[in-house]
Amino acid sequence: MDNPSRIFWFSGTGNSLYAAKRLSAKLGDLPLAQMVDGATSGSVGGEGARVGFVFPSYYGNLPRAVRAFVNKIDIRPGTYLFAIVTMGGVGQGSVAALDKALRKKGSHLSYGRGLPMPANYVIKYNPADPDKSARSMDKANNRIDKFAAEIAAGIKKVKSLPVTANNLYKNIEALDTMFSVDDKCTGCGLCERICPVKNIRLENGRPKWLHHCEHCVACISWCPERATQYGDHTQSRRRYRNPWIQADELMRQE
Ligand SMILES: Cc1cc2nc3c(=O)[nH]c(=O)nc-3n(C[C@H](O)[C@H](O)[C@H](O)COP(=O)(O)O)c2cc1C
Ligand code: SF4
Ligand code: SF4
Repeated sequence: MDNPSRIFWFSGTGNSLYAAKRLSAKLGDLPLAQMVDGATSGSVGGEGARVGFVFPSYYGNLPRAVRAFVNKIDIRPGTYLFAIVTMGGVGQGSVAALDKALRKKGSHLSYGRGLPMPANYVIKYNPADPDKSARSMDKANNRIDKFAAEIAAGIKKVKSLPVTANNLYKNIEALDTMFSVDDKCTGCGLCERICPVKNIRLENGRPKWLHHCEHCVACISWCPERATQYGDHTQSRRRYRNPWIQADELMRQE
């Protein structure tokens, strides 16, 4: 890959991909690329180029997959770097976390904003209901358009909060042992294909979780049969999926 400008995205339930696609369209169809293992080679950016990162806030910090990707990517000097962090509540610490990771590589963000969008974390709470989600999306569209105009104008503005400790990953191996499937599972394999970090393998027609989960909630949220549960937390909770994104668009691109 040897592109001057592009937008990198990571997304479990589609909000961040939606935001990345809308930003891309507003910025003259910037190419989009998923932040997954093995997705980068070569250099990106350069004088006059814009390179963006769009991803969800996880515990006010970076998804591990995003951190690993950013640590590997080679960014040419002079690049205008921007980040849009989608979040259900308060997640601007993720903007600061990305800036910190970039500074370790000798780069830094020129522009960074949190973008409130419907909250998806079904494992911890009941995700936003459709009416609330629709209102939140209307506001998000206006914000994305404003962000795109500022990025196009080369405005320098980083709005962040202090980075919080990323407690999520303390017991990463244990996190996915609470996933299970019931008899409604048809063995369709969607969960295996949509997991951004290859943490699911189908065995005898049933998903097996492989203990390096990102907690992106894609598998539980996109299951067409609603066959997946997380312990006894999720039986009565909604599943959130961005209504403007199809499951196919989130499948790992390798
Ligand atoms: C593991 C996990 C941790 C999260 N932590 C936060 C958080 O700290 N702050 C916040 O505002 N939203 C948090 N959320 C909500 C998501 O950031 C938000 O819904 C996001 O838009 C989902 O993006 P996606 O649809 O691209 O996956 C969290 C969601 C998950 C799955
Ligand atoms: S997406 Fe649902 S139905 Fe399909 S294999 Fe996974 S758990 Fe089973
Ligand atoms: S196993 Fe499920 S929750 Fe964990 S990273 Fe994969 S899709 Fe996301």
